[in-house]
Amino acid sequence: MSLGAKEGRAKACGKLIIAGEHAVVHGSSALAVPISRGIELECMERPGPLGLSVAPWDLEVVAGDGSLAAVALASLAQSLGVPCEGLFLGGESQLPPRSGLGSSAALAAAAARALVSRLGIEADEAALFEAVQAFERVFHGNPSGLDATVALSGRPVVFRRGQAPRWVLGPLPGFLVVSSGRPGDTRETVAAFAARLAAQPKEGSARLKRIDELVERAVDAVGRGDEAGLGEALSENQEHLAWFGVSNFALDEICSVARQAGALGAKLTGGGGGGCAVVLPGPNEQQVKKALEKAGYEVIADV
Ligand code: PMV
Repeated sequence: MSLGAKEGRAKACGKLIIAGEHAVVHGSSALAVPISRGIELECMERPGPLGLSVAPWDLEVVAGDGSLAAVALASLAQSLGVPCEGLFLGGESQLPPRSGLGSSAALAAAAARALVSRLGIEADEAALFEAVQAFERVFHGNPSGLDATVALSGRPVVFRRGQAPRWVLGPLPGFLVVSSGRPGDTRETVAAFAARLAAQPKEGSARLKRIDELVERAVDAVGRGDEAGLGEALSENQEHLAWFGVSNFALDEICSVARQAGALGAKLTGGGGGGCAVVLPGPNEQQVKKALEKAGYEVIADV
């Protein structure tokens, strides 16, 4: 999962949003769980501006080079009060970028922990959270803080802006993470969701309220081991996300193929507009996997 850093090394996990993405930006609750795939970085001394490299993403930036990632890195360093020179962060990611799995928050959480560990700085959870949010703001504009909370804690959580996290205890059912085959752009979909809400405030607000209720239903269903109830909450959440314009053809198709093959529920996860879907396969996992693969979609993880 995550976490902890030793001698300048740190790992942070990705996340899977089970219910409530986007609505969480507007003050509703969301339920998310960590996934074992994550990002591991090592912080080393190196002359010159602060650098960051993630090999599988072909990401190689230094502070001041004008790239978005460099601006985000500088914001993170500034938030932690660490110098923007003389250090280099390099490492590996097991998370695909722009997939709705919280890769940017995982990158920021690993970077923040690796930096404070290398420099021997005291930074409490609130300071690390602020640093991850500073990084996320550059990419997303208005991050809710959900991704940062999971990336830093590595724990299943019910998150609501401005409130203490409600940690979810007890066993969770198995989920499939299915790739739509195209990257998503969270900044774009967050803006599209907000635009739909502004254009149709009455219906949009009613749907936000309903998503909030669905998150509570999902949490209750997890607590009771009621997979059928959880699946219904997921699928209804997908209908609302589609109304807000953040789903797409591939994500809709994944949901309908999975459900026709016997899945208990399915929805997009994370920013949408591409990226991944989360499927609750229930007892029909093999059938559901086969149907998805036949339709051309890759199951990239079992969570
Ligand atoms: O696409 P991701 O993995 O960055 O997830 C975005 C989740 C949103 O709810 C859409 C945005 C947010 O800040 O919570």
